[in-house]
Amino acid sequence: MLFASCGAPQLEPVDAGTPDAGRVTLTRDAGVDAGIDAGQPTIDAGVRDAGPNHEPQVNPVILQNRTTAYAGQIVELALGATDEDGDRLTFAWSGPGTFFENGTPSAQRWFSDERAAPTQLLLTASVTDNRSAPITRQLTINITVPRFTDVFSTLSTPVLQGGQCVGCHGSMGDYQIAGTRNVAWSQLVAADHHRGTACINAGVPKLVVASDRQRSLLYRKMNSTQPAACGDGMPAMSQVSPASPLQHIVMVGSWIAAGALND
Ligand code: HEC
Repeated sequence: MLFASCGAPQLEPVDAGTPDAGRVTLTRDAGVDAGIDAGQPTIDAGVRDAGPNHEPQVNPVILQNRTTAYAGQIVELALGATDEDGDRLTFAWSGPGTFFENGTPSAQRWFSDERAAPTQLLLTASVTDNRSAPITRQLTINITVPRFTDVFSTLSTPVLQGGQCVGCHGSMGDYQIAGTRNVAWSQLVAADHHRGTACINAGVPKLVVASDRQRSLLYRKMNSTQPAACGDGMPAMSQVSPASPLQHIVMVGSWIAAGALND
């Protein structure tokens, strides 16, 4: 869970000589990109027109670019909101899985946590002008178990297209990512790895053990939790830990946990 906020209203100097100095109108697109432009002027409550606060106008639904996603697949979310007083709006997004800001706090990219069975997840966004009570909106997303087709296309995507494995695993690492899904599956599931008995004795006997992520070298290396006897995290020379992007780990982990089917 990640709390996204653009913070409390900020004080900016208002030139008292400017007519209408206290009145700042935020004009915004009420559509997908209806969030706050970080460059917009903000004003402190002390110079705002006297009178009652108006609560933000928040769109009735959170926009989502898909209603069904496999575990680890990215869903884009956006909630349009405006505030006629020009108050800076704070957005908070919550629910299972991982949110990350998509340019503005009103828009997020999200993926679920690991799931071994289909489920529905409820996500919540709340918006406040920091003067009135937060206004909340919710949505549900149908989460499915990733198919091997999804795993294969992620692992076998060329580096130039954002893939992280085939650049080396066409040519090095003792393990070639096959050109077809069926061959790739049979070279992973219940297949021996090349890290030897030390790695097997450390509890990781195969590249993939169906329904057992912890004994699956593929998962352990992507997650950077491989025993020392099993070599490096993957992609090799990744500067971060875990070595692979979290959404890929969620995808592979969910697929293995659900039985590592060839689907
Ligand atoms: C920079 C090159 C490089 C990249 C990129 C890379 N690998 Fe590797 N990989 C290696 C090397 C070298 C080894 C052998 C040494 C080791 O296991 O640490 C290896 C070993 C492996 C093994 C163990 C194979 C076996 O049979 O023992 C797996 C599984 C693996 N990599 C998966 C991946 C995955 C999945 C990705 C993409 C997320 C990836 N690698 C990206 C270089 C790379």
